[in-house]
Amino acid sequence: MNQFAEWLSQTYLSVLIQNHNSWVIPTIQSIHIVGIGVVLASVFMVDLRIMGWAGMDQTLRQTTNRFGPWLTGALCALLATGLLMVVGEPARELVTVSFWFKMFLIAGGTLVAAIFQITLRKHEQHWEETLVNRSSIKWLAILTFLIWLAIIILGRLIAYDHVWGSWSPKRLE
Ligand code: HEM
Repeated sequence: MNQFAEWLSQTYLSVLIQNHNSWVIPTIQSIHIVGIGVVLASVFMVDLRIMGWAGMDQTLRQTTNRFGPWLTGALCALLATGLLMVVGEPARELVTVSFWFKMFLIAGGTLVAAIFQITLRKHEQHWEETLVNRSSIKWLAILTFLIWLAIIILGRLIAYDHVWGSWSPKRLE
């Protein structure tokens, strides 16, 4: 991974970002942070509806129709800005356990959100009348919220990867 990071840091785009580091990275980070807010708020609103704590005047489908596009759009913005940060500072990002752990949880969280939206569209009535009332689904809603929270914490921990002790490849550098 060190060699890949080394190669990436010499590519045209990476050098371009590095040469304008003072404003490019902070700008990308700012967009990334706005995206984080949108993702967490969208997941939170759908989870509140599943828990029965808010939005009960709306069906589950209406709730996901409203917040789903925000979630998808924000995830695309996070992917784009996240990749630009990786290209701009490959050694800082790719050689951390926090980054890879975060990528793993993002894949899991996105998969759960996608499966939920697809099955809700296919079996709308079953979801609205039965599934949403099951305690297992309510626990899943809590779990997914915790996964997105963990992703946020791991995103911040990329800069403090030493907290993982011997698990962090940074220690071997
Ligand atoms: C989808 C692909 C994503 C990629 C490739 C990516 C990549 C990155 C990178 C490279 C950083 C900079 C870390 C640093 O140098 O300190 C970062 C920061 C961060 N990311 Fe992501 N990210 C992605 C998605 C997300 C998502 C979905 C969330 C949460 C919902 C998230 C939350 C954060 C947080 C909280 C930070 C720290 C921001 C700061 O303190 O400046 N990221 N991300």
